[in-house]
Amino acid sequence: MKNKVISGKTRLCGIIGDPIEHTMSPVMHNAAFREVGLDYLYVPFKVNQGELAKAIEGVRTLNIRGLNVTIPHKVAIIQFLNELDHLAEKIGAVNTIVNDDGVLRGYNTDGAGFLQALLERGIEPAGKNVVILGAGGASRAISFSLADRGAHLVILNRLLELDWAKELASRISHIFTIEVEALELNRRNLIRALGEADILVNATSVGMTPNIGETPVTFDLLRPGLIVFDIVYNPIKTRLLTEAEAAGAKTISGLDMLVWQGALAFEKWTGVKAPVELMREETIKALEKHEN
Ligand code: ATR
Repeated sequence: MKNKVISGKTRLCGIIGDPIEHTMSPVMHNAAFREVGLDYLYVPFKVNQGELAKAIEGVRTLNIRGLNVTIPHKVAIIQFLNELDHLAEKIGAVNTIVNDDGVLRGYNTDGAGFLQALLERGIEPAGKNVVILGAGGASRAISFSLADRGAHLVILNRLLELDWAKELASRISHIFTIEVEALELNRRNLIRALGEADILVNATSVGMTPNIGETPVTFDLLRPGLIVFDIVYNPIKTRLLTEAEAAGAKTISGLDMLVWQGALAFEKWTGVKAPVELMREETIKALEKHEN
């Protein structure tokens, strides 16, 4: 691979978070910039919680073109932005920032990336029954995007955080005037919810490296006709996806959501159509290298 030549006109993008060492985004975006011949560079920035304000000041001062935002800044970042996209506002979290001459606008491409991963496979969630496991940041973006699209939702979360799941459900119901149920994540509720489900989304970290032997839903509850979307992308094929496939269900990996959220961010920064397939291939290569 040829090294990037940095010129006087090179534009800078990056990702802020803490921790940041595990991120796949630099590989994905730098490959994409190279592919379409853009003089852009993408770098990781480790920014701790107390220094977010200073980091954003730096973005304006140094005229950094765009950022991705990850844990723990997705919510806190909002107070430092000038404008907010309507879905990002509803979700209450931002993962992408575009800097137009010091005016910072926030978007959430996590939810849109999730939707795009479904749509590219010809799956239209409008009117479908979707069961979402987890009520954290990722679940929040996915749940709002699905509600916006007109899906019926059941959110299942561990008892520990059920109040948070209830709050998420009631906020979604309020904003979109649709009914959203929040239940404890246990076997009885899973059986009940999955009986009527078209799509199951694992938005928890269960099954993520190094805990690859774990799964949030046992094999006997999976069936043909169900679409199973696991947002975990490391490993690319989780135990849940392996078992869903064996049960005859259709499966979608978190890798697709990762790539689409990146592709949508790329298009906002550059105005150029993202080379999605190349981004997917490069991310898979990087993940495989990571695993070995
Ligand atoms: P993210 O930004 O990736 O969504 P998060 O906000 O920390 O990360 O949310 C993680 C989600 O996975 C939460 O819903 C969490 O449940 P709790 O709120 O009860 O912690 C869920 N989760 C993590 N580990 C889990 C486990 N072993 N079993 C069930 N749910 C789990």
